[in-house]
Amino acid sequence: MQLLAFCWIDGAHLKVTAARNHRAAGVLPRLLAAATVVWLAAARAIAAEPQLPPLPKSVASPQDNPITAAKVELGKQLFFDKRLSGDNTLSCASCHQPERAFADGLARSPGAGGKQLARNTPTVLNAALFKKLFWDGRASSLEEQALQPIQSPDEMNQDLDELERELAAVPGYRKQFQEVFGTGVTRQGIAQALAAFQRTLLSGPSPVDRYLAGDQSALSPQARRGLELFMGDAGCIRCHHGPLLSDGKFYRVGPTFDDRGLATITGKQDDVYKFRTPSLRNVAETGPYMHDGSLATLTDVVTYYYRGIPFTAPGGHALDVAPLLERSFDEIPDLVTFLKALSGEVPKIEPPTLP
Ligand code: HEC
Ligand code: HEC
Repeated sequence: MQLLAFCWIDGAHLKVTAARNHRAAGVLPRLLAAATVVWLAAARAIAAEPQLPPLPKSVASPQDNPITAAKVELGKQLFFDKRLSGDNTLSCASCHQPERAFADGLARSPGAGGKQLARNTPTVLNAALFKKLFWDGRASSLEEQALQPIQSPDEMNQDLDELERELAAVPGYRKQFQEVFGTGVTRQGIAQALAAFQRTLLSGPSPVDRYLAGDQSALSPQARRGLELFMGDAGCIRCHHGPLLSDGKFYRVGPTFDDRGLATITGKQDDVYKFRTPSLRNVAETGPYMHDGSLATLTDVVTYYYRGIPFTAPGGHALDVAPLLERSFDEIPDLVTFLKALSGEVPKIEPPTLP
């Protein structure tokens, strides 16, 4: 109902605008305008639900990195291979664990030498759909992203020249790089294979997808109330929409203000403390939450939106979302139940035999 009400309010708004624009015109254009308004309103009613469209079944690859089964298999081996880190103790899968929906259940993961990282490890599940990767958006493709954790002194602390030499000494890798790329072991090939593998990591349809596709029984009444709040009065849909339930944009939401976020990349004062809206797919499995992992549970996160958000951040910067002070605490479990219904099947990836 909420949804429909929105559409019709929107429709009415359009009608007023259209009428204004056509005030000076004759009767026929006016009729046409009115017909268009009715049509637009109807189209909007249909288009309202696709604010939360299902995930695609596959993700397009860039032209210079077409996906092949052999490339995905090589990428999977590299993803699980601890030799990618400087001291051979960490693989991508150490932090992005398949059995934990490709996150690791920690507020912040131990990186090179066991030192705790500054940010929470996001899942790589469905990450291929983001146009900007990382909490601060500093990588624009999985290919560009892949070499960053390997080289980062805090994460895998590995020199790329050394990594190429190390992997080229493994006959199984030499053979596969030759077959897949027609070259020896290169950093570009490593990045391309890791990206190709990660493009296959998409979650399956969730109860929310099934409900929005028409299966009324897919959501409990409580989850349905949560969906209505999410799309309506609680205002979550403003930033959490699209197949990932993320608009891919950057906002100042808190909950802490130690990390300058987007501003570390752009250098702009206005971007300070802003982070990319995270995906909410399989979110029940990827806690703790927020860029710093400081909120342990979904109840903590929703309670934060209801009462915890401060009005200003240090330096007088305004927050991009206001606390829902006038709303009742009773709504929190509804939203949490809805968020839990966003989990779809996680691809089962077994650790491969390494060459
Ligand atoms: C020590 C833990 C750790 C290891 C090892 C690690 N990552 Fe990550 N990963 C992180 C953290 C933390 C972030 C977020 C960093 C940030 O946003 O600044 C991240 C972010 C990402 C993202 C971006 C996800 C998004 O939603 O934007 C991708 C993709 C990714 N890692 C892939 C990989 C790959 C591929 C490897 C192996 C080459 C790897 N990671 C190794 C901890 C790790
Ligand atoms: C202004 C945009 C905006 C609105 C509105 C918004 N969010 Fe968020 N959401 C974000 C951003 C940005 C983050 C990450 C913040 C950070 O870590 O600094 C986030 C984080 C989250 C997380 C944690 C996900 C994770 O993996 O860490 C959840 C869950 C969440 N939001 C749910 C909601 C709910 C429920 C609502 C409505 C009550 C809502 N959001 C409203 C932008 C928004």
